[in-house]
Amino acid sequence: MSLSIWFFISCIFSIGCEIHYNKFPKEFLFGVATSAYQIEGAWNIDGRGPSIWDHFTHKLPSPILHNDTGDIACDFYHRYKEDIRNMYNIGLQFYRFSISWSRVLPTGYSKPINEKGVTFYKKVIKEILRYNMTPVVTIYHWDLPQRLYEDGIDWTNPKLVDIFVNYARIVISRFPEVGLWTTINEPKQICHFGYGLGIFAPGVKSDGLLEYQCAYIVMKIHAATYHMYKNEFPHYKAKMSIVIDCQWIEPLTNTKSDKEATERYRQFECGLYLHPIFIGDWPKIVKDRISERSKSQNLTKSRLPTFTQEEIAFIKGTQDYLGLNHYYTFLVSNIAANEKGFSNYEYDMGAINSESPNWKLDANLRIMSPRGIRRTLKWIKDKYNNPDILITEMGVSDNGKSLQDDHRIEFYRTYSCNILDAMYIDKVKVVGLAAWSLMDNFEWALGYKSRFGLYYIDFRNDPSLKRVPKKSVQFYRQMIKSRELNCNISGNYFY
Ligand SMILES: *[C@@H]1O[C@H](CO)[C@@H](O)[C@H](O)[C@H]1NC(C)=O
Ligand SMILES: *[C@@H]1O[C@H](CO)[C@@H](O)[C@H](O)[C@H]1NC(C)=O
Ligand SMILES: *[C@@H]1O[C@H](CO)[C@@H](O)[C@H](O)[C@H]1NC(C)=O
Repeated sequence: MSLSIWFFISCIFSIGCEIHYNKFPKEFLFGVATSAYQIEGAWNIDGRGPSIWDHFTHKLPSPILHNDTGDIACDFYHRYKEDIRNMYNIGLQFYRFSISWSRVLPTGYSKPINEKGVTFYKKVIKEILRYNMTPVVTIYHWDLPQRLYEDGIDWTNPKLVDIFVNYARIVISRFPEVGLWTTINEPKQICHFGYGLGIFAPGVKSDGLLEYQCAYIVMKIHAATYHMYKNEFPHYKAKMSIVIDCQWIEPLTNTKSDKEATERYRQFECGLYLHPIFIGDWPKIVKDRISERSKSQNLTKSRLPTFTQEEIAFIKGTQDYLGLNHYYTFLVSNIAANEKGFSNYEYDMGAINSESPNWKLDANLRIMSPRGIRRTLKWIKDKYNNPDILITEMGVSDNGKSLQDDHRIEFYRTYSCNILDAMYIDKVKVVGLAAWSLMDNFEWALGYKSRFGLYYIDFRNDPSLKRVPKKSVQFYRQMIKSRELNCNISGNYFY
């Protein structure tokens, strides 16, 4: 293969002429990602205890679109062999999945252990290794055991720290074959969606209040888990980190106020969780905004809990790499702070997400913008000391009407080309990429309507839940095999 086809030169006005590479290095890792509640089903089988997501989806009236639940989902619990074979057939190097806490520990407490649950994950890991893939495990992907929640031990309670660490210790000791650990998936969704807006389990609406307490507890739990791992498992080689989702944020207009709102939005949505780990303490702008607004409410202390010096030191540096989830670009505009001063996340942030029909949208009306991934990667590199980054999720939804998912192929092609630009031009250390997701699955509040899979499943009409490859399967397989892409995407750069 000649070097000349590894890159091409494009000249884009306002950026100038750039060389674009179109080949991934041989050590770059390709994978897919899933999470337990979204695919496993078997919610009350073989000793599994209920989680807050079982409880949430079983509520009446249901908070989920079409009253969907994850009771059966993709039935991965019984079909994991077929799914892992599909991964092997795509040519993947790793599979990222999560452990259902209440399948291993039905009450969430360290006793009793459900050996059937442990055995299930043992079998899954064995199957992944059989095909020479690396198991990448998320310890927590949103499914807190319901019993803990009922005992008041949830993401707002410091008591969860020790209980979580006990759970993590059991999982880590039982699954030494895991190749890479992530502690917690997407704190923003746990806290802002679960405790702010209340649209995710446990459905607590505490805008600008408990959601910050949650962020504080998440940081403490991640750090305590990391330290426990390093202290108690020094013989383990697998690296550990957290997974943060950072979308790309651009100002809606070129005004100074929208540009400032953009930086605040980035810091509230993404910096909030990166800063304590990579730099230490909350981002200053977030701390200052919430503190000032709390004062104007005549509160005696900030709604954002303050870290002690010990906590700052304890949390800082608790990562061996960064797990990054990225999907979309948001356009953001400034909103004036409400003078009356009440607890409100958007007023704290002073920014809102604006619609823009002129951009290319996916089935969830989210902006697909390939340059967003490159800029996100560069932003993280510059702000957070150039960490190794594993893209732990990246994907796009469809509405299930066709297996010809050309927009998904275009998404993976153009986003991946921008990852290459980030690597070769911006010198960001990206080590791998996981497509979200292997197959259509339970997409939280959107139920089965929103489909991110490479494989299609007809959840409503096909009790056999047959996995049907979409056109993108062939594309991803070919991309992984050749490691090469057509990266002449100059015409697409600005959608
Ligand atoms: C969802 O459940 C409610 C009862 O809580 C029922 O009235 C409604 O028809 C259901 N919707 C669907 C789409 O099944
Ligand atoms: C805070 O206290 C001041 C002085 O007592 C008062 O004027 C103001 O209305 C209070 N603000 C709120 C939001 O209660
Ligand atoms: C890239 O694509 C554009 C538009 O399709 C085309 O005009 C241009 O010649 C291509 N450049 C290269 C280097 O292939």
